Amino acid sequence: MLIRYKKSYKKIAMGLLSFMPNEKNLQRLQSTMKLYETAKDHQLFLWKENEGIVGLIGVLFVNEHLMQVQHITVNPSHRGQELGKKMIMNLKELNPDSLFIPHDNTRAFCVKYDINNSFNNRCSDTSA
Ligand SMILES: CC(C)(COP(=O)(O)OP(=O)(O)OC[C@H]1O[C@@H](n2cnc3c(N)ncnc32)[C@H](O)[C@@H]1OP(=O)(O)O)[C@@H](O)C(=O)NCCC(=O)NCCS
Repeated sequence: MLIRYKKSYKKIAMGLLSFMPNEKNLQRLQSTMKLYETAKDHQLFLWKENEGIVGLIGVLFVNEHLMQVQHITVNPSHRGQELGKKMIMNLKELNPDSLFIPHDNTRAFCVKYDINNSFNNRCSDTSA
């Protein structure tokens, strides 16, 4: 189940974010978390299984109809169970009128799951 981030999940969210190759540095990780906690155009969602929070997807609302997937991570012990795919599918269901585009840091996985042509390559070079 996809849930919205709240501050009580900060520790687990930072742990999940740190699996992103570009979030290994602690200062960088802290500033990314701050962005998600403060910037209105950034939103963080967590994936909850029975055993707890095991996945994270972070997006930037580029505009009303364009969302960029900035971060996507799953706990190593839960990878390969289509949770990454489910997080994307759930977000798309919640935002049916939005076009989803990958960030450079999520492109490889996002392109792999371009199921409904939601990742439009023409838009993927946005500098947002
Ligand atoms: C990417 C990630 C979120 C996928 O989560 P997941 O729940 O295992 O994903 P799914 O089960 O839906 O899909 C698994 C598939 O994604 C592929 N995959 C895993 N990481 C990938 C990556 N970085 N780029 C492209 N494909 C990737 C797997 O090889 C697997 O492919 P297969 O089904 O053909 O065997 C997870 O591997 C992760 O947290 N990686 C570390 C963080 C990261 O690098 N995020 C950015 C990815 S571009």
